[in-house]
Amino acid sequence: MTDAENAPDRAAAGPRRRAVLLTGLVGAGAGVATGAGAALARGREAPPADDRLQRARASARAFRGEHQAGILEAPPPHASFVALDLREDADRDAVRRLLTVWTDDVERLMAGRGPLTDLEPELAAVPASLTVTVGVGPRVVALAGAEKPSWLAPLPAFPEIDRLEDAWSGGDLLLQVCADSPTTVSHAQRRLTAAVADLATVRWVQRGFREPFEGPGLPMRNLLGQVDGTVQPDVTGLDAGLLWVGDDGPAWLRGGSSVVVRRIGMRLDAWDRADRLSRENAIGRRLDTGAPVTGGRVDTAADLEAKDELGFHVVDDAAHLRRAHATAPHERFLRRPYSYDDGTGAETRAGLVFVAFQADPVRQLVPVQRRLAELDLLNLWTVPVGSAVFAVLPGARPGEVLGEAMFA
Ligand code: HEM
Repeated sequence: MTDAENAPDRAAAGPRRRAVLLTGLVGAGAGVATGAGAALARGREAPPADDRLQRARASARAFRGEHQAGILEAPPPHASFVALDLREDADRDAVRRLLTVWTDDVERLMAGRGPLTDLEPELAAVPASLTVTVGVGPRVVALAGAEKPSWLAPLPAFPEIDRLEDAWSGGDLLLQVCADSPTTVSHAQRRLTAAVADLATVRWVQRGFREPFEGPGLPMRNLLGQVDGTVQPDVTGLDAGLLWVGDDGPAWLRGGSSVVVRRIGMRLDAWDRADRLSRENAIGRRLDTGAPVTGGRVDTAADLEAKDELGFHVVDDAAHLRRAHATAPHERFLRRPYSYDDGTGAETRAGLVFVAFQADPVRQLVPVQRRLAELDLLNLWTVPVGSAVFAVLPGARPGEVLGEAMFA
């Protein structure tokens, strides 16, 4: 879309948003259904909807709580990861304003109502399990005057494998937008970035998808055809401490987390030339069922000690499964990956947006990533091109603005 095409929208939304910011009307809990959009929606009969649409309309996720949404939920099929940079002259007040605007807008969008300045509130009417998760980088924490967690910095370099590009790395802020509908994701992303356009600019956008037909809660199939996301810590039970920042972290971040977003390209043309045995060997799991090559079902634990008749390990010594497997209980994290495919036809440009949540990425994820960088058969077909780390803010409780405790 050209700037000229955008102009009427900006012209209409800009002054209203500015007015809202100036008068301070946008605040946590300001659930006043005003604006042209709400009036429009009220004045119109709901169109006839089949069961699926009814369900999508009713599928609003809770915004308020101890933790942000978008982490524990089974990942829905569509996602967009958006990194933004604060403007150079941004100060503490700018950060506070931005988070105030997002708190209100995200709450409305997740509830199926457009933000106050939404000119197309019909696009928000189907929440389709929308979740928006907000992360912040070190600059935001410094501007707010809060204590920076020691791990809030780029991951160390992994020169053996990394081919990182600025275009996919870093950022002051992250929006993770997930939903059952690509329209819902697109609309939420646009409204949330437009709402803060005078405070921050978009640095990169990574769109992702997962198989919509395998059902919620099941691991997905990545574009190498592998069942992916099987072995996970029990983050709603005994392993919750692996996910959420606790008493040992900065007070403002308790109940928050961290997220690592790595864009990993796949050499699909080379993968096409590998035979099936080599492909299964690369991971240590079967392609059809996702079960370990040592037998059983997808949820059977791999037998890393099993040997074949020649005395070699059945799970190859360089298989991804063996190299990624935790060698200590703390080396675990919640993986929530999405596939991407930005191919142009002439060029294959597909891979995995690797997304991992954990309380401390340096302690939990880095040792695993280091092992994988040193040796992993999968490296023959994959290449990391982007990397970013954000602190995931704690949830906003009733009456709170996201990240409020940073300003205490
Ligand atoms: C394009 C890149 C990647 C692909 C295609 C990929 C694929 C897979 C697949 C198919 C599995 C087996 C099923 C499962 O348990 O999910 C797996 C397991 C795993 N992967 Fe990856 N992965 C990639 C990158 C990474 C990275 C960067 C990390 C961490 C830094 C990682 C950590 C893990 C862990 C912890 C497991 C479970 C190991 C276990 O069985 O204990 N993966 N991955």
